[in-house]
Amino acid sequence: MKKTVALLTVALLTAAGVARADGLDPIEIRQTGLDLLNGDFAGIKVALAAKGDLKTLEFPAQAIQRFAALMPSLFPKGSETGHNTKALPEVWSDQAGFQKAAANLGDAAGKLVVAVKVNDADAAAAAFKGVGEACGACHRTYRAK
Ligand code: HEC
Repeated sequence: MKKTVALLTVALLTAAGVARADGLDPIEIRQTGLDLLNGDFAGIKVALAAKGDLKTLEFPAQAIQRFAALMPSLFPKGSETGHNTKALPEVWSDQAGFQKAAANLGDAAGKLVVAVKVNDADAAAAAFKGVGEACGACHRTYRAK
C-alpha cells in the first residue's frame, strides 16, 4: 500500500513537471510573450500619435487580442515560483478574476481592431486607452511591483 502511494506521488510529480521536462518553461514563455506584447503596445502608441494610416495597426491590435486569449494558459499550476516571476499568488487563488482581467484586455483590443480597420482615429484613441487600462488593472492585482 505504502509503495503504491509512493509510486502515485512520483507519477503526479512527474506529470506536474512535464512542461519543464520538454524544455518549455511556462514562466520564460509568458515573460517573453509579455515583452513582445509591450513592444507591440508601444509601437501602436507611436503610430497613433503619428496620425498616419491606421489600417497598418490591424495586425498588432489583433496580436494583442490573440495574446489576451492565450494568457490564462500561460500561468499553469506549478509555475507560481521561479525565474524571478512577478506573478502574485492571486493569479492562482482568484482564477476567475484573472481570466476576467485577460478577457477585458481581449475586449479592449477587439475594439481597437474594429476602429483601425475603418480608420477611425477617435475610436482608435479611445480603444487604445482601454487597452492600456486593461494592462494596468491586471498588474495592480496580479503582478508584484
Ligand atoms: C490578465 C493579467 C494581465 C494583463 C491583462 C496584462 N498583464 Fe502584463 N503581466 C501580468 C503578470 C501576472 C505579469 C508577471 C509575469 C511573470 O513575471 O511571471 C506581467 C508582466 C508583464 C511584463 C514584464 C515581463 C517580463 O519580462 O518579466 C510586461 C512588460 C507586461 N506585463 C506588459 C503588459 C502590457 C503592455 C499589457 C497590456 C497590453 C499587459 N502586460 C497586460 C499580468 C497581466
